[in-house]
Amino acid sequence: MERTTTTIPQADIDRQLSFCREIAALSAARPEQPLAFVDTYGCQQNEADSERIRGYLSQMGYGFTDQEEEAQIIVLNTCAIREHAEQRVLGNLGALVHVKRRHPDQIICVCGCMAQEQHVADKIRQSFRHVDLVFGPHVLWKFPEFIHTLLTSRGRIFQIPDEAGSIAEGIPVVRQDKVKAWVSIMYGCNNFCSYCIVPYVRGRERSRKPEDILNEVRELVAEGYKDITLLGQNVNSYGKDLEEPMDFAGLLEQVNAVPGDFLIRFMTSHPKDATQKLFETMARCEKVAPVLHLPFQAGNDRVLKVMNRKHTIEQYLDKIRALRALIPDIVLTSDVIVGFPGETTPEFEDTLKVLEEVRFDALFTFIYSPRVGTPAAKMDDPMSREEKLQNFNRLVALQDSISEEKHAAYIGKTMRCLVDGESGDSRYPLSARTPGNRLVRLTGDPAVIGQFVQVKITDANKWSLFGEMA
Ligand code: SAH
Ligand code: SF4
Ligand code: F3S
Repeated sequence: MERTTTTIPQADIDRQLSFCREIAALSAARPEQPLAFVDTYGCQQNEADSERIRGYLSQMGYGFTDQEEEAQIIVLNTCAIREHAEQRVLGNLGALVHVKRRHPDQIICVCGCMAQEQHVADKIRQSFRHVDLVFGPHVLWKFPEFIHTLLTSRGRIFQIPDEAGSIAEGIPVVRQDKVKAWVSIMYGCNNFCSYCIVPYVRGRERSRKPEDILNEVRELVAEGYKDITLLGQNVNSYGKDLEEPMDFAGLLEQVNAVPGDFLIRFMTSHPKDATQKLFETMARCEKVAPVLHLPFQAGNDRVLKVMNRKHTIEQYLDKIRALRALIPDIVLTSDVIVGFPGETTPEFEDTLKVLEEVRFDALFTFIYSPRVGTPAAKMDDPMSREEKLQNFNRLVALQDSISEEKHAAYIGKTMRCLVDGESGDSRYPLSARTPGNRLVRLTGDPAVIGQFVQVKITDANKWSLFGEMA
């Protein structure tokens, strides 16, 4: 299906910025600067969205806090990927009733992927009456207008239009980190994996223009950012909707050509669209970090088919071999779901075989969670919770032993690492990342935070590496 991406006109964003100025005048009239608390759940896409919400709030004259009691505006930016994520949000949202009772003029907002689910919005409307504003990802760009309405008139606002989605440029951003930055290159997903809620809440795939992305990267590099992650649900289908044809490998090449000493990472890649051209580009571009997160979800072809992943496990393994032929020391990570409806224990054991064969550096493991409105939620799911849990534990135990062995192989090596912050561990006070993004706990002075340094790895366990500056 042909589709051109809708871009929000600049005049509409300017109008939102004028709402910000009106609100800033109200803020300035208060005896103290009002504060906001933005609480983010879910993936980096949500982190990036929260940075834009903070950008708007800052233009409205708000400062920031992480204390609910101090905040005039509380924003919960939510995730709908699994039930556990949703329960955490609902629990925290419920607890805010008491906070709001003590601060009746507080404004409580719920946005993000959960807000976009009709049944969640209905539940909030009926049972969480302390919530003032519910808005979905498609209308995030209208946040100042919503707040303006709430500050100047009474009532609640529910805005969750069911859209294919658009692109909004020019929203101000306040970033949390000084070393690492997220740059969304596209939004939405067209894949409709049968278990997944994302396509329903984030709309169709749409790509930002390369020049907008490159301008953002140039600004970040000028501000001193050293680690830039390009974000999208399936970055390998970048550019399919652009007027001037362009693919993800082409974009990587252009980002790599931006002058400066920084690393490029990207997430997430779908195996069906990970091409030889991408691998060759990764190998050639010196700023692209030697790491690939390539979710395979399940090791059995029947299960992959019912998941609607559109590839076989042999095709997946072929891609891994092709990539390793080009970049032998590539760090590989993946996502796996255990207990998909109808997956038998022998089928699950095929997933273990993939772990043995590929030997991922790290794995993100999930127990299947039914999501309202997805095809998998209607499938027969006869396996007991205990059996799923047993399989899950087998998976984790196998991966732990692989991670431990892989990490042990780093001991004695010296590598260029980016020191990205403090670790909170008094013996190894700094946290750093290898080029392949493995965590290193480091001895040394906080003055080197934000710099690349040579690190000698002295120790390791299954979660992290330990080192000293060489
Ligand atoms: N777009 C990314 C992943 C987004 S969600 C991709 O396709 O790789 C991150 C991970 O959550 C998925 O890779 C999957 O392993 C897991 N996940 C998604 N829906 C799930 C569900 N209903 N139950 C359990 N895990 C799920
Ligand atoms: Fe979900 Fe699949 Fe899209 Fe990833 S590719 S966001 S798992 S539907
Ligand atoms: Fe969650 Fe939405 Fe991301 S469902 S994982 S926050 S895209």
